[in-house]
Amino acid sequence: MTYEEAGNAGLLDQQAARESSARTYPRHLPFAIREASGVELTDMDGNTYYDCLAGAGTLALGHNHPAVTDAMEAALDDDRPIHTLDITTPAKERFVDSLMASLPDDVSENAKVQFCSPAGTDAIEAALKLVKTATGNDDVLAFRGAYHGMTNGALSMMGDTHAKKELSGLMAGVHHLPYPYRYRSPFGEAGDEDGATAARYVERFLDDPGRGVRDPAGLFVELVQGEGGAVPAPDEWTREIRRITRERDIPMVVDEIQSGLGRTGETYAFEHAGITPDVVTLSKAVGGGLPLAVVVYDESLDGWEPGAHAGTFRGNQLAMAAGEATIDYVLEHDLDDHAERMGARLREALDALEARYDAVGDVRGRGLMLGVEFVDADAEPDDAGARPADEDLADRVRTECFERGLVIELGGRGGSTARFLPPLIVDADDVDEIAAIFTEAVAAAVNAEVAP
Ligand SMILES: Cc1ncc(COP(=O)(O)O)c(C=O)c1O
Repeated sequence: MTYEEAGNAGLLDQQAARESSARTYPRHLPFAIREASGVELTDMDGNTYYDCLAGAGTLALGHNHPAVTDAMEAALDDDRPIHTLDITTPAKERFVDSLMASLPDDVSENAKVQFCSPAGTDAIEAALKLVKTATGNDDVLAFRGAYHGMTNGALSMMGDTHAKKELSGLMAGVHHLPYPYRYRSPFGEAGDEDGATAARYVERFLDDPGRGVRDPAGLFVELVQGEGGAVPAPDEWTREIRRITRERDIPMVVDEIQSGLGRTGETYAFEHAGITPDVVTLSKAVGGGLPLAVVVYDESLDGWEPGAHAGTFRGNQLAMAAGEATIDYVLEHDLDDHAERMGARLREALDALEARYDAVGDVRGRGLMLGVEFVDADAEPDDAGARPADEDLADRVRTECFERGLVIELGGRGGSTARFLPPLIVDADDVDEIAAIFTEAVAAAVNAEVAP
């Protein structure tokens, strides 16, 4: 029997027998994918699914969008190189043109670009070296709940302690600050809606000569924490953090690896607050579904030496062609606005669930980066109004979704938040279907819980 004939069970058995026990998604999404188009996946047994995972937010235009596949075919059509280290090519310069066009003028005017090994986490490693070199400082500021990747420096800045617990020798000098997580206030009380207290904490911390932390090389932040559970930062907080870091010459590194390119309802999440970051890290969508990662930074930081950050696979020409096509499509079709509208439509259905079930503790996010946090409905809310997270219920919801043809992932504290990251090209009918399946799945999971 060929693999094509083997069905889901056959391929899953093969995978389990041969792949590492560190594998992740197949444990919760037990299928093998035969075909993918737009927002839809088809598994080896012929079942179809709405894909609200979309390569962990990578596939802005969905699977096999003609704008992307045509660009890739054109790139393969003649004798153009596939791989060029960091030697330039017309495809590379066109990609940079599109990337610059996607950024606000005050960022692109003074921008330098570093191509990285092709994963978000390497853009983070590069950004760490960049700001450490530029400032001469070694410590860095990150946030509770943060996710920046799985390599040493990025992992050191991760909020979730689970992935770190077996490891020693992580990058020293990382200090985690409270993130303005409205539902689970780091200060243990409700009321910091605009993040003013959280921002004041950062300012007081930095101004305290007894803070125990050396002058930082940079502050790394996601403006919607993705893996952290679709937690959006209030714009007022973001503006305050920009002011505080600027007044103290601390480079502000905005990680747009997941939020970038239209997902949150603006081309970049930092545009909601109207700030200018010093450094922006990008990957996922900017490669059009192929591996690509870059750091865009203010030229004043460009003090590192040749070779200070290198990597063999910085020159993936197919990814640049796919990325250019994706960026152009997102800009030409105002997919940021579309994401805002479709996100609002989905949000309405999710808000209705929050109103109906005590087990839905919080619905949040921006644009098409949304999350639903599940909680223990029988527990008393804490002083901030939050009930304890219920990761088992979230897990059941994910399974009920999968069985009904909807692929979602979990994130947030302990994996208690169902996350939606659909392709930005979802239309209103797709959104309504996704909302209907999710609504049924939540009802089934909650009812299973209350059944004796
Ligand atoms: C905000 C953010 N930064 C960095 C990364 C790491 O990217 P990669 O998995 O490509 O290394 C991710 C991945 O999910 C992310 O969401």
